[in-house]
Amino acid sequence: MDRFAVVKVSGAVFDLLDRGNEMVRGVAEQLRAARDLGWRVVAVTGGGNVARIYIRAARDLGASEAALDELGILITRANAELLIAALGNLAYPSVPRTLDELLAASASSRDIIVMGGLQPGQSTNAVAALAAESLGAEILVNATDVDGVYTEDPRRNPSATKLEAVRVDELMRILDGSGHRAGTYELLDHVSLRILERSRIPAVVTSYSRILDALRGERVGTRILY
Ligand code: UTP
Repeated sequence: MDRFAVVKVSGAVFDLLDRGNEMVRGVAEQLRAARDLGWRVVAVTGGGNVARIYIRAARDLGASEAALDELGILITRANAELLIAALGNLAYPSVPRTLDELLAASASSRDIIVMGGLQPGQSTNAVAALAAESLGAEILVNATDVDGVYTEDPRRNPSATKLEAVRVDELMRILDGSGHRAGTYELLDHVSLRILERSRIPAVVTSYSRILDALRGERVGTRILY
């Protein structure tokens, strides 16, 4: 039986490209090692600062929220292409644009599949949850720039504490304050949490340097409970 792991790669990994590609290479290396462990890997890349810069500019120029989301999706797909470049011949060569295309790619090839956004009104976390649901993934690793879920945003409140595990309803409450406009979907949006909840997808939120540790079964980050 194929064991699928879906890895959401935070857009933050693509934020410092002007200072080198080490973070992108580091993620590619972990995905390669995960594949060597027997995982069938699907990665979903976020948009990061570049997406936010474009969305801000287009909003200022009068674009609609849906058009801003479409712009964000374009950038997530551009980031997917960067990860594909870093993976070389281990990667499926094109970026699936729908769940059907993802399923077709996974049926025809054992390559690592990399994709970005799908449709307006959600974040790439929702894409990762939908991908995990569609493939019957064994785990979803949400690899981000914090090492787990904190009681509050640790970047704003240094005394916030990290949770080893969190129930999905509690997580919804913690994240209630985050936005639903283009470019402002925080750590996990409600769409993604509802998908995780309805299919009880085993999920962990951790740092993008610990993707492989999570897939080795180490207790890293924050597990989401149902
Ligand atoms: P994300 O919000 O997922 O990337 O997508 P991010 O901001 O880098 O988040 P993290 O750090 O990876 O979690 C960027 C933008 O693309 C649009 C949204 O506007 C989102 O803010 N988007 C993305 C969609 O509209 N639909 C999608 O399926 C994915």
